[in-house]
Amino acid sequence: MRKYASGRQSPNDRSHLQLNFIPDRVFLNTLRLFNFKNHAEVNLTFDAPIICLVGRNGSGKTNVLDAIHYLSLSKSAFNPSDTQNIKHHEAGFFLRGGFIIGNKSTQVECVVQTVGKKVLREDGQDYTRFSEHLGKYPVVLIAPQDIELIWDGAEPRRKFIDAILSQMDRSYLEHLITYTHQLKQRNSLLKNFSDRGQVDLNLLESYNVRLIESGDYIFRVRQKFCHEFAARVKQHYSHLAQTTEEQADIHYKSNLAESNFLQLLKNSVQRDVALQRTTTGVHRDDFVFTLNDHEIRRVGSQGQQKSFLIALKLAEFEVISNKLNLKPILLLDDIFDKLDDWRINRLISLVAAGTFGQLFITDARPDRTQTILTEAGIQARIFTIENGTFTSTWLRT
Ligand SMILES: Nc1ncnc2c1ncn2[C@@H]1O[C@H](COP(=O)(O)OP(=O)(O)OP(=O)(O)O)[C@@H](O)[C@H]1O
Ligand SMILES: [Mg+2]
Repeated sequence: MRKYASGRQSPNDRSHLQLNFIPDRVFLNTLRLFNFKNHAEVNLTFDAPIICLVGRNGSGKTNVLDAIHYLSLSKSAFNPSDTQNIKHHEAGFFLRGGFIIGNKSTQVECVVQTVGKKVLREDGQDYTRFSEHLGKYPVVLIAPQDIELIWDGAEPRRKFIDAILSQMDRSYLEHLITYTHQLKQRNSLLKNFSDRGQVDLNLLESYNVRLIESGDYIFRVRQKFCHEFAARVKQHYSHLAQTTEEQADIHYKSNLAESNFLQLLKNSVQRDVALQRTTTGVHRDDFVFTLNDHEIRRVGSQGQQKSFLIALKLAEFEVISNKLNLKPILLLDDIFDKLDDWRINRLISLVAAGTFGQLFITDARPDRTQTILTEAGIQARIFTIENGTFTSTWLRT
């Protein structure tokens, strides 16, 4: 194994060049972090399709993945407060990613300051609407925090499905925005009835029209998508588990499957007025994750739950790739924990077969990553983070 300081590559090594001409994948070539979380100033060059970040707990591996998430989706995957991602006691953070898609290079920058608005720009041009950036440099992240999709209530599951559908279908995103807005207005009206001690049913009905139109659209799209998506999740799960005895599935649960939305709203008027909120509609939908027809949150082992989440994310990767004709960057945070060797090998066989585009893997146990990749015959660049300094080596098989 050869060693080069701070991410510099060997001048003779041109193995990465072929990547620049693969048009169907996003490739992150350079990354600059300035005052982002625990990183004061880091400049990295990624010249390989597989990048591993290793280092002790708290060294800042996940933070690097989060910076990539920022550049793709204009926000953190973990902390919704932008300013909390600024390095403590600093005035702001700056991120810059050099992306290559096909033979086109672009620079994406994100600036967050303690005061002022967040800035996102591409090749020096500020975006006025961040939504225009969505889908240009897609990433799919698999992280330990995903477990909330299984353990928590319906909300994170709805958000997960909505995020995929919004990237794939602009009308869906628009209907979702309309629905959320109308719902808020209807709920304020219900609250207002209670404050005034007076109910105006005609006014309430006039609020239903757009809610129903968007709600019906969202229901139809979710229903169709869930059916197709569940089939992909099932397939990925069986591939990982290599058994037909564990059947993964997703069941879409919605009030709108029972009756039409107008009728549901009529039936629930009294309850809505009493509770001062809309108690029926697609905002109450759930996507139930099951293993052999039992809720995975109740019956699944830790490894089975993790396998389910990976299957879910691989299905996400697949549908986004197909829709955008572009393979997202796959960010695998602490992926190997809780998986048995067999399942790790199944996952790594996908990597070895070139199923994904560029891949970033973090692990607090460098030996484990090296062994897994070496055994699978996978070449990778390994970045070791120690006391805030990055050192890179090639892992060659
Ligand atoms: N805004 C911030 N300013 C300074 N440091 C921060 C900030 N936010 C997070 N940190 C620090 O970042 C470190 C965590 O980084 P990160 O989660 O990337 O670690 P990691 O290498 O992934 O660790 P693990 O192996 O445990 O997953 C912690 O030490 C935390 O205090
Ligand atoms: Mg981490």
